[in-house]
Amino acid sequence: MRYLYNRIEFFLNGTAKTALIPPGLTTLDFLKRELRLFGTKCSCNEGDCGACTVAVAEIREGRIVYEALNSCIYPAARLHGKHLITIEALGTPEQLHPIQEAMLQFHATQCGYCSPGFVMSAFALFAERAHPSKEELLAGLEGNLCRCTGYDSILRAMLELASKDYEIVLPALRAVEAGLGELKPMEYVPQESSSIYACEAYFLPQSLEEALRLMREHPEHQLLCGATDIMVQINIAKRKFKCLIDLSFLRKLRYIKEDGEGILIGSLSTYSDLLESGVITQSFPAFRDLINIIASRQIRNSGTIAGNIGNASPVGDSLPLLLCLDARLRLVSEQGSRELALKDYFVSYKHTALQEGELIEEIILAPVDYKQVFIRIKKAAKRKSVDISAISSAICLHFDADGKITQARLAYGGAAAIPRLASGFEALVLGKKPEELEPEALAEAVAEEFTPLSDVRGSASYRKQLISNQLLAYLLEAQGMSL
Ligand SMILES: Cc1cc2nc3c(=O)[nH]c(=O)nc-3n(C[C@H](O)[C@H](O)[C@H](O)COP(=O)(O)OP(=O)(O)OC[C@H]3O[C@@H](n4cnc5c(N)ncnc54)[C@H](O)[C@@H]3O)c2cc1C
Ligand code: FES
Ligand code: FES
Repeated sequence: MRYLYNRIEFFLNGTAKTALIPPGLTTLDFLKRELRLFGTKCSCNEGDCGACTVAVAEIREGRIVYEALNSCIYPAARLHGKHLITIEALGTPEQLHPIQEAMLQFHATQCGYCSPGFVMSAFALFAERAHPSKEELLAGLEGNLCRCTGYDSILRAMLELASKDYEIVLPALRAVEAGLGELKPMEYVPQESSSIYACEAYFLPQSLEEALRLMREHPEHQLLCGATDIMVQINIAKRKFKCLIDLSFLRKLRYIKEDGEGILIGSLSTYSDLLESGVITQSFPAFRDLINIIASRQIRNSGTIAGNIGNASPVGDSLPLLLCLDARLRLVSEQGSRELALKDYFVSYKHTALQEGELIEEIILAPVDYKQVFIRIKKAAKRKSVDISAISSAICLHFDADGKITQARLAYGGAAAIPRLASGFEALVLGKKPEELEPEALAEAVAEEFTPLSDVRGSASYRKQLISNQLLAYLLEAQGMSL
């Protein structure tokens, strides 16, 4: 079978390398099969446990950025132009790295299987922030699971590190930072192989024009942004593709900015970009609440809102809030661009209004004075982190000077085949003050509108109860009470 391999140039633990990557190979498989580095562990192979965490450094807006990523779902071809740092670079039994030293001192490791992943998550965290707070430490490590030590000793080790000054990025690793800069064009090399790979070709276009041309030339393509949904389908469902077009090198689509139209989010902006964005913090604090309940640090470093929309899952967590904010999409193709309201994007289960040759270029949020608007989000799942919702929802209420509701949006995920607005809600509350509403009756009426399905995350009746309970909680809060 003939495949197109990717020739990449990258740094591995402080040393320049070139490599030929079979299409769609993960970084974890690359480490084990090609580089013969076995310190990085594999447990779930789907981004859930953090055992495979590595750090990747790259230059972004003139600054070096270190990020923790799940190597089991990070395509190796993406390492082109970046610095891959694995546990092998940190310490030796004779000379431990300060993070390893702290783990040892606080008895923070037992069987040791999860430890390389914890150390690498901590490495990326401390490389970015020398003295993280306890909350930042907890958020930085929430994507790592340990089944035997218990998290207290790990947290104590990290708190100790955070209270002192250590050299986290060792000189040998720092030395290559100057070599990270302009991205060289990706070279594709045809190769015969008897192995079976995820796809026949893995394209990484470096401009929008190149991406749109590749989409036309390869009509059976599948797009990728962060790859956190698609790589799980490859690893777990063993899905095969003719060709994957990875948009992650389209640096010009990685922006979050404000103009007269509102807030514009380029489709390559990750969840972490949104969390760090001053524009989002100032204009849409509800977005920060939302992103903090999505996945884990490692997933947020790759995953995008555009991918959440593109995936069109009824339980995509960003979708209820975006629907409540009347988000619009800018779709682009070789024929030009058009705008589409997000509510018109979802057609039926996993079926969207995206046309052939189109991709999501940006997400547009109209300006909102959040101080005058009641915006809340909720997510019901079995775990606080790294879990998919049974039901998620968002509400957005606008008021006039007398405190009467002038506009109302309520949307749910997991309540129907597509994420959608509760269509009858606005008519029930318009022109009223929150204290004039009857929360129980409203919650019951809205739940009647939905016919959720039963699946592993919850039965239809449980979901219906959640639809009602979440609205009840919102309305009581709007009335100044709580459940
Ligand atoms: C461990 C784990 C935990 C997770 N937790 C959550 C969670 O808590 N909440 C949640 O909602 N999701 C969760 N997810 C799912 C996933 O991370 C999100 O859906 C994420 O937003 C997908 O973004 P992505 O960029 O990685 O998408 P990708 O995997 O790159 O793409 C997803 C889909 O979108 C399409 N697409 C991507 N970009 C574009 C574009 N620009 N234009 C058109 N189509 C496009 C792709 O073709 C594909 O069909 C989790 C996933 C994992 C692995
Ligand atoms: S092996 Fe579990 S996150 Fe990668
Ligand atoms: S030390 Fe055994 S899983 Fe964490």
